[in-house]
Amino acid sequence: MGTKRHFRVWRGDESGGDIQDYDVEVNDGEVVLDIIHRLQATQTPDLACRWNCKAGKCGSCSVEINGKPRLGCMTRMSTFEENETVTITPLRTFPVIRDLVTDVSFNYEKARETPAFAPPAGVAPGQYRMQQVDVERSQEFRKCIECFLCQNTCHVVRDHEDNKEAFSGPRYFIRAAELDMHPLDAREDRKQYAQANQGLGYCNITKCCTEVCPEHIKITDNAIIPMKERVVDRRYDPLVWLGRKIFRRDQLESENMAPSTSVGVTDVAKGAPFTTNRLPEAPPVREDGKMDVTEVTLPVQGGPSPFGDQEFPLPLDQISYHKPDPRD
Ligand code: SF4
Ligand code: SF4
Ligand code: FES
Repeated sequence: MGTKRHFRVWRGDESGGDIQDYDVEVNDGEVVLDIIHRLQATQTPDLACRWNCKAGKCGSCSVEINGKPRLGCMTRMSTFEENETVTITPLRTFPVIRDLVTDVSFNYEKARETPAFAPPAGVAPGQYRMQQVDVERSQEFRKCIECFLCQNTCHVVRDHEDNKEAFSGPRYFIRAAELDMHPLDAREDRKQYAQANQGLGYCNITKCCTEVCPEHIKITDNAIIPMKERVVDRRYDPLVWLGRKIFRRDQLESENMAPSTSVGVTDVAKGAPFTTNRLPEAPPVREDGKMDVTEVTLPVQGGPSPFGDQEFPLPLDQISYHKPDPRD
């Protein structure tokens, strides 16, 4: 026999909504997704939620629970106090479709923009060979289930709709790092692309994305910081520095860009020049032409972000689904 527990769930659509109160039965061993299903079965048959596997593997059931981005199917009810109210709201970074379902197509657009794996010319599929040590380096990044909790958490886009054009987010920084580490990837511009087109410079290494990743991928330590270090290395390399003085930047970028052989991706992924109306701001370069490396040597946060930093879980009075109007 279960016990009745108190829940608050955001209900609404793109025109607006509010948090509503429910008392629902909870049984031993249940997770938050079980409660959402019981709510649908007993009180609110029209409550919209997204889920597929109920095993932490499809990445569909991402929501915010008591102000923290989490998977509904992997959040045990036993982690809350018996008398604790559990508040469930949609992912705040993405536009709501209905109730707990958000439109995450921003992430698919960024995936399509990311240049695909580009094997060397003349090596056919089936002939790819690589060392086990190289496989293991990027294996961690392949565990990503595309739940987009990291994307939702990142303060660069969370309340800043206008940053989305220039910022791909942590999920695509790990994709860039994975390809940069890949011994058979012929593109040599992954770092430059991440810095100039994915908005790597916006990231101030708060590690919030790492904290919410259900696959425990060390997004910041193993992908973002190494990519930032390589961007810095490139700036410090005297030969590269001399080359940058002699050649114009656009000449360098087009010469460095290896063609991609992948099909079914955008022109950018096929090696076309990148274009964007608004370029991300790169970290400042000092008068001596060098970049300040303190942000990559600090153990935690690299410094305050102009977009404000966000602590999780959110304070109780901030738990809601609220999209600030970008025009405000
Ligand atoms: S470390 Fe912080 S700023 Fe950088 S991508 Fe992750 S959440 Fe965003
Ligand atoms: S990196 Fe982790 S948090 Fe981000 S989408 Fe992949 S699994 Fe989810
Ligand atoms: S339902 Fe698949 S990860 Fe939760």
